[in-house]
Amino acid sequence: MNDFLIAPSILSADFARLGEEVDNVLASGADIVHFDVMDNHYVPNLTIGPMVCEALRKHGVTAPIDAHLMVKPVDRLIGDFIDAGASYITFHPEASEHIDRSLQLIRDGGCKAGLVFNPATPLSYLDYVMDKVDMVLLMSVNPGFGGQSFIPATLDKLRQARARIDASGRDIRLQVDGGVKVDNIAEIARAGADTFVAGSAVFGARRDEDPHGYDSIIADF
Ligand code: DX5
Ligand code: ZN
Repeated sequence: MNDFLIAPSILSADFARLGEEVDNVLASGADIVHFDVMDNHYVPNLTIGPMVCEALRKHGVTAPIDAHLMVKPVDRLIGDFIDAGASYITFHPEASEHIDRSLQLIRDGGCKAGLVFNPATPLSYLDYVMDKVDMVLLMSVNPGFGGQSFIPATLDKLRQARARIDASGRDIRLQVDGGVKVDNIAEIARAGADTFVAGSAVFGARRDEDPHGYDSIIADF
């Protein structure tokens, strides 16, 4: 799987116009809606939950919704996001008491499952669950806020994650999240990522002259 997918993080969208913002980035060519869920416990910020995911589905969003759960504990919210129409559900291994069980819960609900690695979290969490993940997400910032700078050590970690995925022979996406910009995305792709989350770089680049507001920035990516 070598196609590249762009996943705007709605953390940086205008929440007062969220449905319209999501419609616009998708009409501009984005592939996935990255939906950041923060609980003011696992991370020091508070965002949106399953009701907002469900509202986007009711609004008419048919694109994949990628729920990035930065919450502890995770298991109960997994069920809520399955019911709310998420497509991918990813969580941080440190936030789950039983990682294998949480991955299985996601898959049993018909969603794609992923593990998220903070900058200092070792990839060894993958050792015994490679057959249960559809996505590996490497955080290239510490989670909690948009607009931070890409941590360069992520490039080497991406190469290691890419080698693990290729060695497994499995159909697993390698996603990167944090500080992804037009001027570093090529290097990040060369390191092995195939799915790119970008929040501030996308939603900060809205242009009124673009038919959907985000055509130029998505094209630049
Ligand atoms: C951070 C979130 C990211 C964030 C990325 O904890 O997981 O998805 O929105 O924002 P940017 O692209 O601005 O770094
Ligand atoms: Zn995220």
